[in-house]
Amino acid sequence: MYILGIETSCDETGVAIYHAQKGLISHNLYSQIEMHRQYGGVVPELASRDHIRKLIPLIQKTLIDGDLQQSDINGIAYTAGPGLIGALMVGAATARSLAWTWDVPAIAVHHMEGHLLAPMLEPNPPKFPFIALLISGGHTLLVQVNRIGQYQILGESLDDAAGEAFDKTAKMLGLDYPGGPMLSKLASTGKPRFTFPRPMTDRPGLDFSFSGLKTYTMNQLHATAQTAEDKADIAYAFQQAVAETLSIKCKRALQQSGLKTLVVAGGVSANVQIRSLLSAMTTKEQAEIYFPRPEFCTDNGAMIAYAGCQRLLAGESSSLEIIAKPRWPINQLTELPIM
Ligand code: KG4
Ligand code: ZN
Repeated sequence: MYILGIETSCDETGVAIYHAQKGLISHNLYSQIEMHRQYGGVVPELASRDHIRKLIPLIQKTLIDGDLQQSDINGIAYTAGPGLIGALMVGAATARSLAWTWDVPAIAVHHMEGHLLAPMLEPNPPKFPFIALLISGGHTLLVQVNRIGQYQILGESLDDAAGEAFDKTAKMLGLDYPGGPMLSKLASTGKPRFTFPRPMTDRPGLDFSFSGLKTYTMNQLHATAQTAEDKADIAYAFQQAVAETLSIKCKRALQQSGLKTLVVAGGVSANVQIRSLLSAMTTKEQAEIYFPRPEFCTDNGAMIAYAGCQRLLAGESSSLEIIAKPRWPINQLTELPIM
């Protein structure tokens, strides 16, 4: 069963083909970063228009790369939310129309379920049950996952998502969009000179808050001469604070649940320092940790094709309606039987 996956929830057009037995066949990504850079962030209307331009050629290329014809495709998975409504509509309308024309089922996929399942694309995938830390531009979620679709939210961000905090702090430091990777690069040249707070770690609970840390960072920056060295040291301290906060909460979630497997996914999980601190923590806890390969941490079509394939295999499919939901809580998904 060959499943075509389509991702257009934000600023990346992602397309992939996943085969139920053979695994990932081909995948392509077109990033709009260059287009949005001059505005310092994603311009939703430009994002939608660019998805329209890029999506069909990318689908054609992905079929050619996989040495496949359209008649080989048995189902189409598309990101139906959460995300930017215009951007989602492009992928959803294209996927739904192609599925109707090709006479195959379509399946509406939750973007964060895609991220959560991305480590399943790796050669040594995690086994259920596990704790998942999902850290992206729009979400920071700690979830207990017993099987696909059974997502119990243990904690979430009360304000800025981890990626959003990286992006806003990067802007303060005068870095280009997208801030996360740029801040991380700057931090790698910084020294451990400042210690920033680890928000909400001094009390019980698994929720996060990064907005105060962002303000703290701004105040610290203004208290220096803002030389290149000051900025690098501040980037280092900010990144370290986020990484340790995430690590403390993940450790707590593992201890509270008694589980010994941690899955970390979403754009921010590409961060080398966060990966390293979380890996050190799980080693100490005698737990296992799983990440997607860096290119599948950020948005991509492969994770959507994979998640859609699992749901189609379980007999699910979506109606002829074009489904696009800017908001869609992950704990509202249907549970799949253990296969
Ligand atoms: O998952 P993703 O590609 O899109 C959303 O679903 O939001 O995540 C994008 C977020 C952005 O905030 C970006 O700055 C952040 O992930 N990000 C990083 C790194 N790479 C991407 N943050 C910190 N370090 C990185 N290396
Ligand atoms: Zn994402």
